[in-house]
Amino acid sequence: MTYLDPAPLVSMATAYWNSATLIAAVKLGVFDAIASGAKSAGEVAEKTGGDEVATDTLLVALLALELVERVEGQYRNTPLAQTYLVSGQAQSLGGALLYNADVYPLWGQLSEVITAGDTARDPQAYLGGDLEKTRRFVYGMHHRALGVGRAVSGIIDLEGVSVLADIGGGPGTYSALLCKTYPHLKAEVLDLPAVVEVAAEIMEEMGASESVSCISYDYYTDQLPDRPYDAALISGVLHREQPAQVKAMFQSVSDRLPIGGQLWISDVMLNDDRSGPLFGAMFALNMRVLAHDGRCHSVAEQAEWLNEVGLEVVRTHQLPPPINYTLICAEKVR
Ligand SMILES: C[S@@+](CC[C@H](N)C(=O)[O-])C[C@H]1O[C@@H](n2cnc3c(N)ncnc32)[C@H](O)[C@@H]1O
Repeated sequence: MTYLDPAPLVSMATAYWNSATLIAAVKLGVFDAIASGAKSAGEVAEKTGGDEVATDTLLVALLALELVERVEGQYRNTPLAQTYLVSGQAQSLGGALLYNADVYPLWGQLSEVITAGDTARDPQAYLGGDLEKTRRFVYGMHHRALGVGRAVSGIIDLEGVSVLADIGGGPGTYSALLCKTYPHLKAEVLDLPAVVEVAAEIMEEMGASESVSCISYDYYTDQLPDRPYDAALISGVLHREQPAQVKAMFQSVSDRLPIGGQLWISDVMLNDDRSGPLFGAMFALNMRVLAHDGRCHSVAEQAEWLNEVGLEVVRTHQLPPPINYTLICAEKVR
């Protein structure tokens, strides 16, 4: 009988250990505690309010994960941790990681989610139901968009566009970055009321309130504002929805665009044969635990749905990991 190595299964079954270690260390503020200089396990425990013996165990795990280094019994951040895991720094991923901490327990209920066909939590809590959670969600999106936004927004060519509809624009970060690149551009961030309230605050912080307006809009129930847009952006939204809703959203954009107007879609997508890639397939599951209708779509599927409403895909771009976004640019042709 051929020997099959079970090692991949053991790695898969325990892969969450790494996530849990990273999330716990961020939550406890371990990377902050050693940001300004190396410390012993006892000193880290004191700063983070942890048990000394348990903190030592955590630090050894972080050492093995190459997130900290140990020099003469003292721990300090590796460059990776120092750059991205210390709070309050320009490139800090803290907000996004803390959002992952919220999501993490839900993955433990994945089998129930698949049986029920729906998420075990109330997605509404993050979309206005609970104002604190909503705020954390919107700031988490903002931090993520600040981290990857320049790579994404650098591809979106809005030369000659005056008004952009940023549908499900969340924190408004992409709109703000785009308006900085294109000084004549005005953008409308269209999102749920509690989300645009936080977005307006973020636009102030980014000095973008003059060019970006934040407008309450629910794409399930509202029509897009009755005005012509030259272009629309749907970023990171369609992965919450099943095909029927995606088609409805494409139709509403098409109704507002002139011939030649562009719709940019930016999202995690699947291969055309829906066989992967691994990140996209996992992200689709992530959206199943988070939203009622989570699903990732392929470029081929979306091209077909766009075509049905008079839009034609003119280019696509694939951004490499860790961004993993695919961008579609479609043009209204009829
Ligand atoms: C992952 S976020 C993407 C935000 C932003 N476009 C970006 O790329 O950073 C998804 C957004 O869809 C919004 N959204 C969800 N349901 C919505 C609805 N029914 N109407 C309008 N926006 C909605 C959420 O509030 C959230 O801001």
